[in-house]
Amino acid sequence: MCGEVRIQGSKNAALPILAASVLIPGMSRIANCPRISDVTCMCRILESIGCRVTWEKHDLFVDASSVRRSCLPQEYVTRMRSSVMLMGALLGRCEEVTLDYPGGCVIGDRPIDIHLAALKKLGVFYEQRENVLTVRRKKLQGAGIEFPFPSVGATENAILAAVLAEGETLLTGCAREPEISALCSFLKNAGACIEGEGTGSIRIRGVEKLCETEYVIESDRIVAGTYLISVLAAGGEAFLKEAPAEQMEAVCRIAGQMGARLETWEDGIFIKRNKELISPGKVKTLVYPGFPTDLQSPLLVAMSQAEGESCLEESIFNGRFKVTEELNRMNMDIKVRGREAFLSGKRRLMGTNVLAQELRGGAALVIAGLCAEGITIVGNRHFIDRGYEDIVRDFRKLRAQAGN
Ligand code: UD1
Repeated sequence: MCGEVRIQGSKNAALPILAASVLIPGMSRIANCPRISDVTCMCRILESIGCRVTWEKHDLFVDASSVRRSCLPQEYVTRMRSSVMLMGALLGRCEEVTLDYPGGCVIGDRPIDIHLAALKKLGVFYEQRENVLTVRRKKLQGAGIEFPFPSVGATENAILAAVLAEGETLLTGCAREPEISALCSFLKNAGACIEGEGTGSIRIRGVEKLCETEYVIESDRIVAGTYLISVLAAGGEAFLKEAPAEQMEAVCRIAGQMGARLETWEDGIFIKRNKELISPGKVKTLVYPGFPTDLQSPLLVAMSQAEGESCLEESIFNGRFKVTEELNRMNMDIKVRGREAFLSGKRRLMGTNVLAQELRGGAALVIAGLCAEGITIVGNRHFIDRGYEDIVRDFRKLRAQAGN
């Protein structure tokens, strides 16, 4: 591989920010928004409740002057887990919100108990009948909330509900992912009063109203990490333009340990790997700033090409090793025991027909195809399109042998 690719805007920042736009009774301009199917899905939900959504290249305009419905359409909500973020946001505008139990990638159990417990503290009642969830409030009241686990989505939901609540909210045990800071920056631009984002404690003073605003979405650290790991696995060099290096320390550290040369520039990351790959030993996925669970599947592919045995422990999601069955069909040798995957290295991968079953696992299959002999056909591309604007276009820019 050899080339340069510009990294798209962040999916995990764009989705909660789109949800936040319903709190603003006017226009939000969200620039550098990735054109991926999860964003399209969120736009459809916003339109169904009365928002006007328009695109100009990568700028997305959401006009939430009038929110007419607070019953979210089943078709889209069950397709995407981030729709759950609309609970907290819409409660700032309406007294009641109804939604089907949110869907999302099949990566293990994904309950929303922490979200609901946080909303309850802010004065929200909820009931679930079969798969339909109704959340209701008279008024939102600031409160002290301690998260039992730093859930990204629950932290975001609580922030969204608290910005227009009466009085002060103190969130502790919060997730520190950069996407939380992005959401808070967007809300602060619109007039919200928030302190401490990016740390475990976030303080929010409720305001009466938010106003029209503009925001530029930062580059996607997971997409950048996917391409970085593909160069690591398949060899060669690449410049990842606008990759957010400061958010990617854990990934860069492991790539360096495995034998890549990395240079961080003001406008991106350069990676070169022309030496033998060495196993990093054991890697464990962790909450930010640890090694991200979303890059676990791509890293499995790089580990399979390295000298020595490796182990990857998944500590965030159970059931996130589904892709290993497909990877083994390409002649990897991955053994999963509980939350750990054990790999023998230096595998000669063989191209075959494989099926993506979720977003990041799908991207890992594409990387495996780049490392394999012969042709690999990855089916169910729609899973990959949820988070990558055009993975084939990007890999062609890196002069990898990829086609539609
Ligand atoms: C977000 C990201 C996703 C990433 C994940 C972890 C978005 C749109 N998605 O997902 O890409 O993989 O963070 O970095 O930003 N949990 C509960 N109860 C809850 C909430 C979560 O038990 O109410 C558990 C989950 O099942 C999971 C763990 O907590 O095991 C982490 O989930 P969470 O941090 O909430 O991830 P998401 O916000 O869903």
